[in-house]
Amino acid sequence: MSLDLFSHLANPVERLELAPGAVLWRHRLEAEAATLLAELPTLLTQAPLRHMQTPGGFSMSVAMSNCGTLGWVTDRKGYRYSPTDPLDGSAWPPMPSSWRQAAVDAAREAGFAGFAPDACLINRYAPGAKMALHQDKDEADLNLPIVSFSFGLPACFLFGGLARGDKAQRILLEHGDVLVWGGPARLRWHGIQPIQPGQHPLTGACRLNLTFRCAASRPEPGP
Ligand code: SIN
Ligand code: FE2
Repeated sequence: MSLDLFSHLANPVERLELAPGAVLWRHRLEAEAATLLAELPTLLTQAPLRHMQTPGGFSMSVAMSNCGTLGWVTDRKGYRYSPTDPLDGSAWPPMPSSWRQAAVDAAREAGFAGFAPDACLINRYAPGAKMALHQDKDEADLNLPIVSFSFGLPACFLFGGLARGDKAQRILLEHGDVLVWGGPARLRWHGIQPIQPGQHPLTGACRLNLTFRCAASRPEPGP
């Protein structure tokens, strides 16, 4: 019997508690990746990837788009969520239900039951693209988690502390990995080091990252 018979099988999923409120699953979405990524071409036809401007006037190296009722945008006026795509004023495409369900499941297993994402930021990193250390704080409720899916080329994720100068852990994020950070970890500084050149069978010469957020404030529970 040849081991090649098993080469199509996904690697075993491994769960790591990185810090209170932060969980990483290695390989969690490997088996589903092709199905999840099949949603992308239609989404990106409606809302193309683009290099947004920072408030300081720089062009981001990461190409971005969004789906969901809100999308994260940046331009000279600042960082914010918008219900419409600034490129043409239309609504962002709906969040695919398979993406939403995978994000809700991961959030629940990380201890965040009831996570209801209304925004998904789509990040595409070509080799050399990076994301400087930052905190995600444009959302209304800064306890609710961020759920992040990584596909394609690997990345070195810098996971810092609550203060900008805190020493950052260096975490390898690979194809199919899922990272959730919320509650006490929600305002940790984080970033992505420049992506190294490479080829991935599903994404080609890039890394794709999806981050699911609950951007708007939650409706009060009924009586
Ligand atoms: C982000 O912080 O918005 C993206 C993180 C990542 O690309 O893994
Ligand atoms: Fe972020």
